[in-house]
Amino acid sequence: MKILVTGGTGYIGSHTVVELQNKGHEVIIVDNLSNSSAEIVDKITLITGIKPDFEIFDLTDIELTSDFFKRHNDIAGVIHFAAFKAVGESVQEPLLYYHNNLTSLINILQGMKNNGIHNIVFSSSCTVYGQPDELPVTENAPIKTAESPYGNTKQISEEIIKDTSKVNDLHAIALRYFNPIGAHETAIIGELPLGVPNNLVPFITQTAIGIREYLRVFGDTYPTPDGTAIRDYIHVVDLAKAHVIAVDRMINNKMKNNFEVFNLGTGNGYSVLEVIKSFEKVAGIKLNYSIVDRREGDITQVWANPDYSNKELGWKAEKGIDEMTLSAWKWEKALRESTK
Ligand code: NAD
Ligand code: WQD
Repeated sequence: MKILVTGGTGYIGSHTVVELQNKGHEVIIVDNLSNSSAEIVDKITLITGIKPDFEIFDLTDIELTSDFFKRHNDIAGVIHFAAFKAVGESVQEPLLYYHNNLTSLINILQGMKNNGIHNIVFSSSCTVYGQPDELPVTENAPIKTAESPYGNTKQISEEIIKDTSKVNDLHAIALRYFNPIGAHETAIIGELPLGVPNNLVPFITQTAIGIREYLRVFGDTYPTPDGTAIRDYIHVVDLAKAHVIAVDRMINNKMKNNFEVFNLGTGNGYSVLEVIKSFEKVAGIKLNYSIVDRREGDITQVWANPDYSNKELGWKAEKGIDEMTLSAWKWEKALRESTK
């Protein structure tokens, strides 16, 4: 089956292209390279032996997007990753985020409608739950007011997709990711943060390799066992595999409703200090870190109840925290070796 992967040269997209190809799907990537590079296509090819089709353009351009769908009206399913994702930047540049993330989605849905393409998997986020009242968080937990324009684009996107699925012949699955980390086992693809990383694990690996002087741990006075904040970290390859299952579920008409939502998490929460300890153990390195004030906008703790995804998708995250931090470390080392 021919699957369109928007944002397919990005972090989660590239790992998903590999898993789609491993399962025999034909992949076409669309990306404007605003946060990735064209070399990723060669790296995917190196891993799977199959070169995915690739077109470079901006999905906010209605004419280019419309023309693309006309030329590819044989697409069986779309996996839509393309979006801007930096929470802090979205607070500074809300219009940039609303324009990029919402216009691209609308253009894609329009292109699908015009060309009889019915299936879309959408990258959503656990950020829609804010600080949940109950843990672990299920798909039925209330959606909280978004903390950032970025988070709001995920909420609005889900609404746009849900409304469209009520009237058009559209089947849609929103996957709410918890905290994706780690890299492919080959260390050929992984996360490539531009500039100073915002996220914990790239900051840890860049500190360990010597690019950053020390890691700042944002707060140790949270009401958690060790005082640091807790998240549900999930290996990016486990996450990628869930996308293949979701798109197959649509193509094979296995959906229960036209619009479905699934949590993608492990069900286990780890504190910042526990992630550091795991990293230190697998890498055999003492990490330089220091406790500083809390980061504005951070929640105390969140982890998924993945029961519904486990049961309905027949999917379960398999990799533990040590495998996640080790793969991230191998990727960081390979990356620095390749740029020496
Ligand atoms: P990423 O930045 O690595 O990948 C996104 C890709 O989309 C990039 O290659 C970028 O060049 C492309 N892109 C952006 N806007 C585009 C446009 N208008 N037209 C064409 N291409 C465009 O990000 P990622 O971490 O792989 O995230 C993928 C998706 O998952 C995003 O929607 C993100 O919001 C969502 N998500 C990510 C996380 C996370 O922690 N990484 C968590 C939850 C949800
Ligand atoms: C994890 C923990 C930090 C960096 C963000 C987005 C969310 C989602 C995933 C897309 C927190 C602590 C971090 C550092 C630290 N993305 N930390 N020092 O904030 O859970 O989620 O990415 O949808 O929307 O908000 O992830 O990796 O930034 O932080 O102590 O240098 O690590 O305070 O407790 P977060 P993160």
